[in-house]
Amino acid sequence: MIRTFREDRVRRTAVLRFALLGALALVLVVPAAGYGGQAKKAAPQASQASCQLQVFSWWTGGGEAAGLTKLIGIWNKSNPTCKFKNETVAGGAGSNAKAVLAQRLAAHKPPDSFQGHAGAELRDYIKAGQVEPIDFIYKQYGFDKVMPKSLINQIKYNGHLYSVPVNIHRANILWYNPKVLKDAGITKAPTTWTEFIAALEKAKSADVIPLTLGEAWTQKHLLETVMIATIGPTRWAALWKKGGDWSSAGVTLALNRFKTLLTYTNSDAASLTWQEAGKLVADGKAAFNIMGDWQDGYFSGTKAGGNLALKPNVDYGWTAVPGTTGVYDWLSDSFTLPKGAPHRAAAVKWLGFLGSKKAQDTFNPVKGSIPARQDANARLYGPYLKWALKQWKNDKLAGSLTHGVVASNAWNTDIDTALGLFVQNTDVAKFQTALVADAKKRA
Ligand code: GAL
Repeated sequence: MIRTFREDRVRRTAVLRFALLGALALVLVVPAAGYGGQAKKAAPQASQASCQLQVFSWWTGGGEAAGLTKLIGIWNKSNPTCKFKNETVAGGAGSNAKAVLAQRLAAHKPPDSFQGHAGAELRDYIKAGQVEPIDFIYKQYGFDKVMPKSLINQIKYNGHLYSVPVNIHRANILWYNPKVLKDAGITKAPTTWTEFIAALEKAKSADVIPLTLGEAWTQKHLLETVMIATIGPTRWAALWKKGGDWSSAGVTLALNRFKTLLTYTNSDAASLTWQEAGKLVADGKAAFNIMGDWQDGYFSGTKAGGNLALKPNVDYGWTAVPGTTGVYDWLSDSFTLPKGAPHRAAAVKWLGFLGSKKAQDTFNPVKGSIPARQDANARLYGPYLKWALKQWKNDKLAGSLTHGVVASNAWNTDIDTALGLFVQNTDVAKFQTALVADAKKRA
């Protein structure tokens, strides 16, 4: 079901409470039989009538919900005796969903499959023994031959695969309203820090919001892109390794730049979803927004799907976040096979389906992401995604912090705390000290 984002926000607390209760009250049903692969051997027999595929994600808003709806449509058509049960928890970037999921997993009430980010985030679940290795699914469908090596390396742990990536997202995109830029006398989208500040100043003088921002996780998203722009992808990668130098002058400069950017943002940021922050740009009330390319799904998707139906390159434009041209700040939505999945055989089939060309080429053009598979049919993708497909082939990679690639959930939570304080006190030195301490905890 597609709701408006405002409704989503209002209902968020209620949804969270409901989901937690639901997790406790969840009744496990016996796995259904009859689905392919090795699951046949493992799954006990059960009546088809008891089968349902419980999939956990945080895709409830424009673009994301529309993409999921497409997958549900195909799934239900080809699996009429094991329909999809949509167990989503609202809140961008999984800001609420991850807590609910942790509760369910701790209570041994897993869904049949859950969304997680490739990289450190998924390693948390693997190390905790909460997900099964799924090498047999890769073997059965030949996924390792069609997914890029860089991605496979990120999702392998101790030589085994535990998730199927459905897409590649890019986090470091500067979205803008071409008409607003023109009216403000900004002749081209900025590509360097100096150009960016000059453009923000012009927008300010033209009485529009220079840079829109939303709730807490979008602030971390902005921070990560400014850090990558300032210290570059190599030093960014080093920060997440043992002994990473968080006290460097480069980090100080990045934090100061972040502080500067906050002075150009809307004062109601904390109460806006990512879609609401994006819509300010779409509506001509603001010049720029820094967000992942799910914003393209929201901007260009159909009104029926809860999106804005804008024309790419006309109603909105994009470029790499200034200072990150040639760098792909990437992340990937992957799905897992939790240990004790109530309908394991269906979950195995779901993962096989998610990795298929059909699923990926149906889902991603709507979601605003490029497929994880390398054999996509580029003609199915809109102008932004055609551009992204090309960039992905040539750019240097930087893993996303906010979206689980470089840091565990625990490290992310520590950074969230430090960032929350910084947004209040804007004390760069204190912020950096906290970040250094957070990194040391991981040493
Ligand atoms: C990311 C996720 C994307 C998108 C975004 C906003 O973490 O990977 O698929 O949903 O959050 O919710």
